[in-house]
Amino acid sequence: MSGMIKVLFVCLGNICRSPLAEGIFKYKVTRDGLGDKIHVESAGTSGWHIGESPDPRSVEIAERNGIFLDSYGRKAVSEDFNEFDYILAMDSSNYADLKRLKNSSTNGAAQLFLMRDFDDIGKGQDVPDPYYGGEDGFSYVFELLDRSCENLLETIKKNHDF
Ligand code: 4NP
Repeated sequence: MSGMIKVLFVCLGNICRSPLAEGIFKYKVTRDGLGDKIHVESAGTSGWHIGESPDPRSVEIAERNGIFLDSYGRKAVSEDFNEFDYILAMDSSNYADLKRLKNSSTNGAAQLFLMRDFDDIGKGQDVPDPYYGGEDGFSYVFELLDRSCENLLETIKKNHDF
């Protein structure tokens, strides 16, 4: 795994948004034959859902798009900033929490971004938390993540000559 570019998606619970982002991004990485070059994970800023599978509504919207989600909830830690190259926060609250983790890491080389820095429609906005809403919140989040993941992958390909 050393030598690989490592990408970490982070939300609050690590059961709705970031597992979906992980699944979508892995799908695109595989599609483009980059599975041996790019490693993908997700995590939560909270420890509320450690060990849990993604929310059934994220699993459902992913499956409807041919994507299988297989992650288990874990909490983001400061060491992630030493381990990963790109860390993507789903919203500004996640970003603020991650900034604190970055500052408490030993070298913290990972670059921290907002996910929608890579969305050409609504750049820099939050990926809204769909947890307390209905099904349509999840299809909206899917669209945002799909666009953002595509542009993030293009950026990584350019940055690393893939
Ligand atoms: P996520 O959504 O951050 O996209 O995974 C949430 C999941 C669970 C909770 C909040 C947000 N919760 O309060 O348990």
